[in-house]
Amino acid sequence: MAAFYDTARATDAHGAEPFDLVVLGAGSGGYACALRAAQLGFTVALVEKDKVGGTCLHRGCIPTKAMLHAAEVADSVRGGSQFGVHAAIDKIDLAGVVAYADSVVGRVYKGLSGLVSGNGNGITVVQGNGRLTAQDGRPSVTVGDRTYQARNLILATGSYPRSLPELEIDGAKILTSEQALRLDRLPASAIVLGGGVIGVEFASAWRSFGVDVTIVEALPRLVSGEDSSISNALERAFRKRKINMFTGAALSECQADESGVRVELVDGQRLEAELMLVAVGRGPRTAGLGYRESGVDVDDGFVRVTERLETSVSGVYAVGDLVRGPQLAHRGFAHGIFVAEEIANRAGVLEQAPATIVDANVPRVTYCDPEIASVGLGEAEARTRFGEVETFTYDLAGNGKSQILKTRGFVKLVRRSSGPVIGIHMIGARVSELVGEAQLITNWDAFPADVADLIHAHPSQTEALGEAHLALAGKPLHSHG
Ligand code: NAI
Repeated sequence: MAAFYDTARATDAHGAEPFDLVVLGAGSGGYACALRAAQLGFTVALVEKDKVGGTCLHRGCIPTKAMLHAAEVADSVRGGSQFGVHAAIDKIDLAGVVAYADSVVGRVYKGLSGLVSGNGNGITVVQGNGRLTAQDGRPSVTVGDRTYQARNLILATGSYPRSLPELEIDGAKILTSEQALRLDRLPASAIVLGGGVIGVEFASAWRSFGVDVTIVEALPRLVSGEDSSISNALERAFRKRKINMFTGAALSECQADESGVRVELVDGQRLEAELMLVAVGRGPRTAGLGYRESGVDVDDGFVRVTERLETSVSGVYAVGDLVRGPQLAHRGFAHGIFVAEEIANRAGVLEQAPATIVDANVPRVTYCDPEIASVGLGEAEARTRFGEVETFTYDLAGNGKSQILKTRGFVKLVRRSSGPVIGIHMIGARVSELVGEAQLITNWDAFPADVADLIHAHPSQTEALGEAHLALAGKPLHSHG
C-alpha cells in the first residue's frame, strides 16, 4: 500500500519499513485510529505492549458486561415465580462466570486481531513497550532498540485504576476492578469504595450473586455525572435490592488482614467486609512515557489537546482516556476515527474535515440493575448553560413492554426553551438499547415535534421515548403531558 508522505520523514531510524502514522497503544482509541487510517491508504505502526483491544476488551467493558449478564440471569432465575416460572438457584459458580466472560473476550479478541493484522491492510503491529522520544528533534516512538518515526504520532495509552494514597491495593482484600474481575470465589460481603460507574456496576452484579454489598461514596449521590433524578431513582432501586449505601461519606481509616477489611468513615461509622473494591476513578496513563520530555503539554495527568485533538506538539495527537472527558470506549473509537480523518484531510487525501467530537453528545450507559442510559445535558447543567429549559418525564409505568418486564423507571427529556432536545436521561431494565435513538435525537438537534411524528413499534420500550416527545410537543397520547 502506498505511503502518502515522503519517506525521508517517515522512515524508521533503523531503515525499516516507513510508516505514515505511528500509534502508541492499541486499545479502543488506538486501534480504531489504525483501522481508519489504513482504510484511507496510510501505513500504520500500531505499538502495543500487551494485547490489541486494551482495557475495554480485556479488563473492562466486555468482561464486566458478561459478568453483569450472568447477574441478570441469576435475577431472572430468582425472580422467575413472579412470571409463573418457578426455579431456584443451585449455586453461583464465579469461576464459571469468569470462564464464560473469558470465552467472550477470546472470541472478540480473535476477530479483532484478524481485522488489525489482516494481510496487506497496511497495519504493522509492533509488540513492545513504546515511549515517546524526540529523535533528531522530531517526535518518534522508541520500542526497545528500535525507533519509529512518522509525520503523525497518535498517543493512545489509555488509563489505569486510581487508588487513594492511604490504601494499599493488595489484590486479595483491597482490589481494583481489574482484580475483582479475576476473583474465582464470591465474597460473603464487600465494601465498594466509589459510587460511580464501576462502583454501581460491581455492586449490582455482586448483589445479584447474593453478596452483602455496601457502597461508600464521597459525593452526596451515586452516579453524580448523571441527572440528579437518575441518582435518586437508582438509590431507591438499590435500597429495594438491599444494597447498603453511604453517600457524602469520606474514608477516615482502613485496615485489612486475612480476616477481612475494616473501614472507619469520618463520621465514626465502622464497616466490615470480606473485601473492598476500590472504584474511585481511572487516571490517564501518561507518566513515564516520555510525553512531557518530548514537549507534550500534560495537565494533571491528562494530555492537553486542541478541539481537533492535536497536542502541543504539531503532528502529535492524543485520543481516548488520555484526553479529559468521559472515559468511554466508544468516545475512544470516535476520537481514533476523527484523528485518522483529520490527518487524511490535512494531507489532502480526504476532502472534508471531520466534525469535532462533542463530549456531551457521547451516549453513556451504566449496566447496573436498573440500567441507566443518557446523552446530552442534565437539567441542572442545561439551566446553567441556557437559562430557560423545559423538561418532561415519562414514567415507564405507562409503557406496556416495561410492565411486561416488571421494571420501573422513566425517560426524562430536557429541551431548550421552545428549542431542540438537548438531554435524554433514562433508567429501567434494558434502557441501554434506547440510547441509540436518544443519541440521534440530540446529535441531530431534533425538536420534540420531529420525534413525535415518528412511529414507534408497539409494544416496545422505544414507545416511551416516542410518548415523551409527543407530550413535550403538546400532544400526549398515554400520559397527561
Ligand atoms: P467514576 O468517576 O465514574 O466514579 C468514581 C467515584 O468515586 C465518584 O463518584 C467519586 O466521587 C468517588 N470517589 C472518589 N474518591 C472517593 C473517596 N475517597 N471515597 C469515596 N468515594 C470516592 O469512576 P469509576 O467508577 O472508577 O470509573 C472509571 C471510568 O471508567 C469512568 O469514567 C467510567 O465512565 C468508565 N466506565 C464506564 C463504564 C460504562 O460505560 N458502562 C463501565 C465502567 C467504567
